[in-house]
Amino acid sequence: MPKEAIPRLDNDNIRKKILPFCRLKPGEIWNDPEEKHKIGVLDAVSKSDCQLIANGDYVDLFIQDPPYNISVGNKNTDQLSRIEIDKYITFSRAWVNNSITMMNSNSNFYVWLGADQKRGFQPLPEFMLFMREFDNLKSRSFISLRNQRGYGTQKNWMAVRQELLYYTKGDPYFKVAYTDIPKVLKGYYKTINGKRTDNMERGKSDTIRPGNIWLDIQQVFYRMEENIPGAYAQKPLKSIERIIKTSSKPGDVVGDFFSHSGTTLIAAERLGRKCITFDKDPVFAELSIRRLERYRKTGKTGWQWENPFPEINPLANL
Ligand SMILES: C[S@@+](CC[C@H](N)C(=O)[O-])C[C@H]1O[C@@H](n2cnc3c(N)ncnc32)[C@H](O)[C@@H]1O
Repeated sequence: MPKEAIPRLDNDNIRKKILPFCRLKPGEIWNDPEEKHKIGVLDAVSKSDCQLIANGDYVDLFIQDPPYNISVGNKNTDQLSRIEIDKYITFSRAWVNNSITMMNSNSNFYVWLGADQKRGFQPLPEFMLFMREFDNLKSRSFISLRNQRGYGTQKNWMAVRQELLYYTKGDPYFKVAYTDIPKVLKGYYKTINGKRTDNMERGKSDTIRPGNIWLDIQQVFYRMEENIPGAYAQKPLKSIERIIKTSSKPGDVVGDFFSHSGTTLIAAERLGRKCITFDKDPVFAELSIRRLERYRKTGKTGWQWENPFPEINPLANL
């Protein structure tokens, strides 16, 4: 038995089978019947698509997870690789501009990115530099999420990191988060009202803060309930929930232009925020809507290893 009931959803054969079952076509938006969220099949670089889904709503917190494993030519064609990264930055400039027009005057902006260690670590450094163009976005933190499993060779360090950049516009909400990791070390002595105290006595929590290196979040794999077979770029729910709890209040609007498996949507639903999200691909918009419906019906956050598209036989004629 395969570990997951469906292969990667960027497989053309699978997509052809699923497309007839997608309720949204490009340019369309699903308005949640419970009147909370909006989910679309839209393009992040299109100004009119973004205006269509915003429809007067402003976003308090963006959690953006654009594609970043783009092909950059091959090692013999430096020029091609330069053109490709230029294109990537042009793409990024368009969707970041569209995000800014939807942001409240005091709002938070997070973006997940990658650094290709075989190709000069692109696009992370180029992205960080180009973000300086936006005077109204202030750089705040560079977070690394540590994966438990990684890829690597005997001749290099194992790659276990995912990068998350944090920016703010104006002076938005931020509430310190804590992990589930107990504080075990006493220290940081300070005298308060004549009494010598340690960090345990003074602390607001008996667990530690995550800081900007997140070590305590399990990456998604097929044994976890939240796993979505076929979704090849799913972020752990716990990481998105940490961002939402820290950087928004109940009732706030959370935006995500790259929905994929709908992790931001599910996290927003669980935490009482309203989500405005879309994906360019109808298959992923459909998957996101189904994930929300399933969560409301069963309380389950994913399909684990089951097929989210039971109408099709994914393994036939592959
Ligand atoms: C890295 S994944 C996002 C993963 C997501 N955070 C999750 O946890 O499931 C990127 C997604 O962006 C979508 N995408 C790519 N280009 C896009 C565009 N121009 N506009 C909107 N979505 C796009 C892809 O179809 C893909 O599903």
